[in-house]
Amino acid sequence: MGSWHSLNLLFDRVPIKEAIMLVAGSDTLRLPASAAGLRFHKAALIVLPLVLLLAGCASKPQPAAKVTLALVDRGLFDKEFRDLRDQQYKEFTAQTGIEVKLLPGPESAVEQLKLWQKLLGNGPETLQVQPDVFGIDVIWPGILAGDLLDLKPYVGQDIAAHFPELVANLTVDGRLVALPSRLDVGLLYYRTDLLRRYGYNDPPRTWDELETMAARIQKGERAAGNKDFWGFVWQGAISEALTCDAIEWQASNGGGNIIDPTGKVTVNNEHAIRAWERAARWVGSISPSGVTTYKESDASNIWRAGEAAFMRNWSGAYAVSNSEGSAIQGKHGVTLLPRGRTGAAEVFGGDGYAVSRRSAHPKEAVALVRYLCGRRSQTLQAKVLSTPPTMPDLYNDPELLRASPHIREIRDAVGHGLVARPSTVTGEKYTSVSAAFSTAVHSVLVHEKTGAAAAAELERRLMQIIGTRSASGSQEPSRTARPPHADR
Ligand code: GLC
Repeated sequence: MGSWHSLNLLFDRVPIKEAIMLVAGSDTLRLPASAAGLRFHKAALIVLPLVLLLAGCASKPQPAAKVTLALVDRGLFDKEFRDLRDQQYKEFTAQTGIEVKLLPGPESAVEQLKLWQKLLGNGPETLQVQPDVFGIDVIWPGILAGDLLDLKPYVGQDIAAHFPELVANLTVDGRLVALPSRLDVGLLYYRTDLLRRYGYNDPPRTWDELETMAARIQKGERAAGNKDFWGFVWQGAISEALTCDAIEWQASNGGGNIIDPTGKVTVNNEHAIRAWERAARWVGSISPSGVTTYKESDASNIWRAGEAAFMRNWSGAYAVSNSEGSAIQGKHGVTLLPRGRTGAAEVFGGDGYAVSRRSAHPKEAVALVRYLCGRRSQTLQAKVLSTPPTMPDLYNDPELLRASPHIREIRDAVGHGLVARPSTVTGEKYTSVSAAFSTAVHSVLVHEKTGAAAAAELERRLMQIIGTRSASGSQEPSRTARPPHADR
């Protein structure tokens, strides 16, 4: 349990300055009680060399032949991820002579962004520590662009290999601020053994079917003695994760995507309201009451323990479902999210790698970015971690499809277009937009407000944040168009 958390705890719980001091000053630290006594030393093993290195860098310049790059990453810090990255860094060092040190980040996108801003020196609190390479979320380019190098002059032909839409998403005012490295897609995980036991041939194709199947399996499993069993787990905490889940509910039901591509606030509509209220009915019935405090790893911990029939999570959760200690190895499948009245809506996430404008080693940092985003790294990642690649032609690699059969489903989702969060149209205001949205949806999930009241307040709040007009009524999900490339 908690594998996604173990290293993330460092920056989740301790402000960066203190964390660095603590790591530098002790080899092991008791985490706060809420961390259930997990020890800190694993993170320290990784961070300590980096801190020492950075401290060293500040005082004496490194000889050119011995460049060590510091990288902060937002990947899932489970064992598989770390092992793979270690292997990749070794290979990169063997090829180039450049060393790489990894600095882990917190789990949630909001906390990560705060830390990245501090590390890049554009947050409210700046630091001496200046990593060279940053893993960045697809929703951050508009926020961080000013502190990142334009990679275009350095990466040349590399750009053409990626989905053009992902490249466009990472381009701000003509500057390519990161290269795509990983595609995340919201998916439905299901238990194959339980589907069979309850006479279902296929996973649910609609939200209605999901509700019925989840309720029936939950009832049966509880009657059979598993009192803690739940039908459906997802992400209901006020967080970027809830923003994604709620966009999927509403966009698949004709409730639109919060703000349309022209900047109009569209969220106050009956279809969005109904979608939130439906999710509120799941809480305490097919989903645990605590789901309103869950982020991705909370849901996947229950899932891996074998305590849920269905889970909404990112494509990256496939690997943890199968990893050591999982109670459901070989007993699960993954498919596209259920359809609502207007179709399915999978939100896409994922990462790119960027170079800090303040990096003392920009050329070497770009070399690392090209390596991590390159064909070989992406193929390896897809095989070992089941991470969907950002290069369309890799989706037809038979070896990769054999190793991670669900990549085929993702290819189909990509082929039909995925839903982008409104981060491009809102730019640096996106963080406030998303926070207001997930807070409003959460107030409905915990029955603090009716859907209608929450939507009306949210509309007013969003208009204040972005300073534009609103539109009433429903609209179709705003999708990215990527069909031509996915099936090549
Ligand atoms: C995943 C996605 C990212 C998203 C985050 C929300 O990490 O890759 O795009 O913002 O989840 O929690």
